[in-house]
Amino acid sequence: MAIAELDEFVNKVRERSDIYAVVSRYIALNFKGGRYWACCPFHNEKTASFTISPDKGMFYCFGCHQGGNVFKFISLMENISYFDAIKLQAERLGIALPSRKKTPAELKLEQERKSLLNIMTLTQEFYHNSLVKTVAGEKCRKYLAARGITSGVIDKFKLGYAPDSWDALTKTLRSRGFDDKQLLATGVAHDKQSGAGVYDRMRDRMIIPIADINGNVVGFGGRILNEGEPKYLNTPETAIFIKGKLLFGLDKATRAINAENCAVVVEGYMDAISLASAGIENVVATLGTAFSAEHAKLLMRYTRRIILCYDSDEAGQRATMRALPIIQNAGAEVFVVAVPDGKDPDEFVRKHGKAAFENLLKNALPFVDYKIQYILARADVLSTSGRSKALRSLLPILSEINDAVLQIDYCRKIAAALVLNESAVLDEWRKFSKSNSSGKTIKKPTVRDDDIIQRSGSAIIKKAWHDGDVLSYVLATLPKEIFIEVHREILNYFEKCREMEKHPSDISAAEELSAEANAELSRILTGEVNDSDELISMAYENSIKALRRIVLKAQYEKARRETEEYLKSGDEAAMRVAFQKSLEIQKELNKLMIK
Ligand code: UTP
Ligand code: MN
Repeated sequence: MAIAELDEFVNKVRERSDIYAVVSRYIALNFKGGRYWACCPFHNEKTASFTISPDKGMFYCFGCHQGGNVFKFISLMENISYFDAIKLQAERLGIALPSRKKTPAELKLEQERKSLLNIMTLTQEFYHNSLVKTVAGEKCRKYLAARGITSGVIDKFKLGYAPDSWDALTKTLRSRGFDDKQLLATGVAHDKQSGAGVYDRMRDRMIIPIADINGNVVGFGGRILNEGEPKYLNTPETAIFIKGKLLFGLDKATRAINAENCAVVVEGYMDAISLASAGIENVVATLGTAFSAEHAKLLMRYTRRIILCYDSDEAGQRATMRALPIIQNAGAEVFVVAVPDGKDPDEFVRKHGKAAFENLLKNALPFVDYKIQYILARADVLSTSGRSKALRSLLPILSEINDAVLQIDYCRKIAAALVLNESAVLDEWRKFSKSNSSGKTIKKPTVRDDDIIQRSGSAIIKKAWHDGDVLSYVLATLPKEIFIEVHREILNYFEKCREMEKHPSDISAAEELSAEANAELSRILTGEVNDSDELISMAYENSIKALRRIVLKAQYEKARRETEEYLKSGDEAAMRVAFQKSLEIQKELNKLMIK
């Protein structure tokens, strides 16, 4: 679609989007003190610091500084791109996407994808049939029965059996008109190592279809029926099977994840299947790969609470430790369940039942507790060096806790576990947190001028948003360098708007500004409740003055220093010029002070 057409579409969606209606779809807004408030959905808090400005169509959180327009809000809530948020909102409002002719290359790609998906669906049916309807499938049916998998579950997951044959599947697919190249592209067939042709990848294995979020089968896991290597044979990475972006079972688990507001992540296909058959359905499994940021994003479309429930062996626990920071950095709340009895969730739930597993979930450890337990359990408590090594790795974890009382509490626990003197641990902790926080204060000096510059910049931006004519005056009166970086970015954007003779809008701001500057603009515009034009103008004028004063003070200081230097070096003529200059600056400063 043409750019103009796209703009028109975005504007139309924006015009019909009411930020109040959109936000209250997700969270409850309370009217208080002249505006709407809510507990911020983007960070954890107990008192509401998230607010919206219905007339400007923007939101801002004073706690975590997220902000922007209605589309930004949707993109954050749904964990989708800004443009996808526009499309989603259009869909919700029933506004049709302007249609666009696809290029021949795009059409071809789409066609190819379709035929790959087609092959996967047919293959799944073939395997499923051979499990439930053929004599050869008998041994696999027995295997599943022995593992407690009912026919209901076989149906739900469309489990299958790959017969012990080199070409049963290949032949079937060829008879449906697919060629060897396509069979290779889906990974259902292998290249023959000697000579031409292909053969079935999976032979004599139980088959677990793996679907994408829309339920399209994109790959298979094939489990050996007896002991043997490899235990699982999987579809290799293909154009449609990308392990880092897929979670087994997610297509079937979304409703339960929504309902429970929590997703359980397990390691094995069979864990997910077994839990689902026990009636615990908010479960997904990784595909034998590490948990990725992409996985976290995928889950966060449905919930922000993720419980890791990996195998209880050392490999599983190590994988848990590796996944924790990834999930945390993605912004989710993460908990850990360590399966107490049995090697994995499948074994546990079959032995102890649904209620017992639910109890484990209820008592899932917050990630900090888990990390501390993990290190303590592996510490070499018997040697002095082992104990101090453990303590050193525990101190930074303690600082991840945002509660001083809890921190002290943990110090006690750690002391007990490491057989160390309690006050010695507390001392170490104090030393550690002091050296850490002093590092932080060096980075962020709190000078009063900084505060003035920040607040004045905000007031000027607010005025300039409503009245673009002030911009040239601002830029003629003040050097741009005085503004903080995000404000400078916003002012540059205003300038650009003026050049193009357009009023700045939340839409173009979202496109032009960095996320940080965009949030800052929202903060400024959703700021005060009762800002009449008069108040905005007053704040603006005072701000210009305040900033002028800061600029002049700096100039005065410079002139004064020059005067002193020339005085010392005996250059009287230069000294007089510098002195005169400082007097003039002083005069101007005085003028600004009077009012
Ligand atoms: P597990 O060995 O824990 O698998 O490996 P599981 O699903 O619990 O299987 P059962 O209970 O022994 O039947 C965890 C995951 O690692 C991948 C698979 O995705 C498996 O589900 N894996 C494991 C492989 O891809 N290949 C292997 O050979 C083994
Ligand atoms: Mn298992």
